[in-house]
Amino acid sequence: MTRDLTVLGLESSCDDTGAAVVRLSGDTGGSILSNVVYGQAELHRDFGGVVPEIAARAHTSKLDLAVRAALTEAGTSLAGIDAIAVTAGPGLIGGVMAGVMCAKGLAAATGLPLIGVNHLAGHALTPRLTDGLTYPYLMLLVSGGHCQFLIARGPDSFARLGGTIDDAPGEAFDKAARLLGLPQPGGPAVERAALDGDPKSFRLPRPLLDRSGCDMSFSGLKTALLRARNTLIADQGGLFRQDVADLCAAFQSSVCDVLAEKTRRALAEYMVLNPTQPALAVAGGVAANNAIRAVLETVSSDAGAQFCAPPLALCTDNAAMIAYAGGELFRSGHIDDMTLTPRPRWPLDRSSPAMLGSGKKGAKA
Ligand code: KG4
Ligand code: ZN
Repeated sequence: MTRDLTVLGLESSCDDTGAAVVRLSGDTGGSILSNVVYGQAELHRDFGGVVPEIAARAHTSKLDLAVRAALTEAGTSLAGIDAIAVTAGPGLIGGVMAGVMCAKGLAAATGLPLIGVNHLAGHALTPRLTDGLTYPYLMLLVSGGHCQFLIARGPDSFARLGGTIDDAPGEAFDKAARLLGLPQPGGPAVERAALDGDPKSFRLPRPLLDRSGCDMSFSGLKTALLRARNTLIADQGGLFRQDVADLCAAFQSSVCDVLAEKTRRALAEYMVLNPTQPALAVAGGVAANNAIRAVLETVSSDAGAQFCAPPLALCTDNAAMIAYAGGELFRSGHIDDMTLTPRPRWPLDRSSPAMLGSGKKGAKA
């Protein structure tokens, strides 16, 4: 029986400052003793996107407060912590540096082990934290900067089956919202507006469905949305509320169709390699979208696979996933020291060639 491990995690790779305490017990799964997230939406609102410099400064001023709040909420102190895990990349480099420096300071002061965690591994291992999923499983990671199918075999063992060749879906949602005058982050705003819309009112493309394999593309979809919007504006002098709802519904339905078909293919490929363990998990901010979760659940049950989608709050960026992934790495013998270096790029599958796409967080993998 593996002994319990209590890990403090820090996350600061984009626009959420997070600190969390997670206890790992058994071989998989854990309990979240606290999970503090200080968002920065207000600070970036006027700019229509995340401003890296503003994000880094905000992380610097909030990280220690987040750590204190996480420890208090967990009813513990640094004395009750076994290891410190921190997002060391990929992400906006100023924010990642702020987190790594804070974690190094804590590790130096306490003598606790320091573990640098790949942010994507944090998302990818979340289904183990929440549902105790066992390795291997197929992971669809969909967020603001990433979109890839991964076979998860261990905390540092991932094989990529495919991914986006340009924009990530979250990025496309954010751009769609911007085009339609909706607030950022765009995903939740587009999902809300789509509830009142008719997905069939506009026929938007389903990019790359005509090509085999499970690579995806979302940038053409955004351009098609821009054209549909401009045609409406030219015809009627502006956009009615219903137009925005219809465009959002059509956009979301196109993303759903692409993700569903590509997931079907990835799952088939995965099942050939792992016939005895049919399991699909989804994580990342876009996995918070209810329509997307629903189509993926259908694809999974059609294939006879177990489906796992973490609770919404654990799909978007948070430090609990970093603490958990750090705990798994630590258990597998991984440990960093003061030479831990923040990495703006850090592919999970280091044996596959880099993907072409680059998004708000730079090249994805
Ligand atoms: O994983 P995450 O919190 O940060 C990254 O690592 O990128 O994902 C943020 C992304 C944003 O692009 C946001 O618009 C998108 O996830 N998102 C959603 C929804 N909630 C967040 N996209 C679609 N529907 C949602 N409900
Ligand atoms: Zn993320």
